[in-house]
Amino acid sequence: MALETIRWEGERPGHVRMIEQTLLPAREEVLEVKTVDQMVDAIYRLAIRGAPAIGVAAAYGVLLGIQDAGSASAEDVVGRTREVAATLAKARPTAVNLFWALDRMVARAERELSSGASGDGIVAALFAEAHAIYAGDRDTCRRMGEIGADLIQDGWTVLTHCNAGALATAGIGTALAPIYCAAEQGKRVAVFADETRPLLQGARLTAWELMRAGIDVTLITDNMAARVMFEGRIDAVFVGSDRIARNGDVCNKIGTYGVALSAHAHGIPFYVVAPLSTFDPSLDSGDQIPIEERAAEEITCSFGTRTAPEGVKVYNPAFDVTPARLITGIITEVGLIEQPTMEKVEAALARA
Ligand code: MRU
Repeated sequence: MALETIRWEGERPGHVRMIEQTLLPAREEVLEVKTVDQMVDAIYRLAIRGAPAIGVAAAYGVLLGIQDAGSASAEDVVGRTREVAATLAKARPTAVNLFWALDRMVARAERELSSGASGDGIVAALFAEAHAIYAGDRDTCRRMGEIGADLIQDGWTVLTHCNAGALATAGIGTALAPIYCAAEQGKRVAVFADETRPLLQGARLTAWELMRAGIDVTLITDNMAARVMFEGRIDAVFVGSDRIARNGDVCNKIGTYGVALSAHAHGIPFYVVAPLSTFDPSLDSGDQIPIEERAAEEITCSFGTRTAPEGVKVYNPAFDVTPARLITGIITEVGLIEQPTMEKVEAALARA
């Protein structure tokens, strides 16, 4: 059965249902999110995570904040939309899909206001917009999966880092979408999943969802990736992204840069799979991407067990940037950007 990572439950008023990802794989529980603050908390705690899923959660978060505002004036609904969006924007800094979705919601409210809609009409339009973001993400994942599957040969083993699968989107994933589509086409494809320190998205989430889907998956710790490449076990790397600069530099989960360097050293193709909503055309290069730093306890005391001395200094960046020169191609819903450059990225964005 397909995974329902996130969905809107009910009509208006309604609420959000999501898989509580912090509990996987030990417990499969649904989290009901009913307020904007609960949504901010769910995004920050990584109950919902992965760039496209964060975008969908943000759009639905706006609905939670404005769904009872139908009797307010059109100006008040737009004002409230802006306030709710500003609150949700504080949840996490790196995945640009969060800001992309919020900007889209605010822009829709403003458009409706200028075309003379009532407060209630604006609320209705925002529901349509959020559902369109959700449906768009599902279509986009499928399209990227079909494009990416053409690059995968029968019998290949692919390495992935973090979780860029169904749990990271409203659809079949980004980096894992080509693998699902290749398997649907009857190709034999196996996956090596990096465990992904410190929060183990690879071990807890990627291994879980691939096993559930019947895909051959082998779990390794992050520091084994170079070794398995050296041993000739890996045909290609597929990863997702949280933000891509105009020059094709790709930000993704911490550790991705090391994987890219290893792949480059071993002559292994390194593909990024990401929708256009993950591109940030306002940034010239990856140096400008804000990198989230998370709590020290995620390293010293992850999952409740102390593994480092109390009081030790910790540096915990959650993401890194892979320079475009290490990237074989970026698979988007409008096609493959081979050996990305600023010109090629701009051309892809213009096709949107
Ligand atoms: O901290 P997370 O779990 O939100 O990080 C997720 C990733 O780094 C994913 O690889 C990225 O968002 C792409 S998801 C389709």
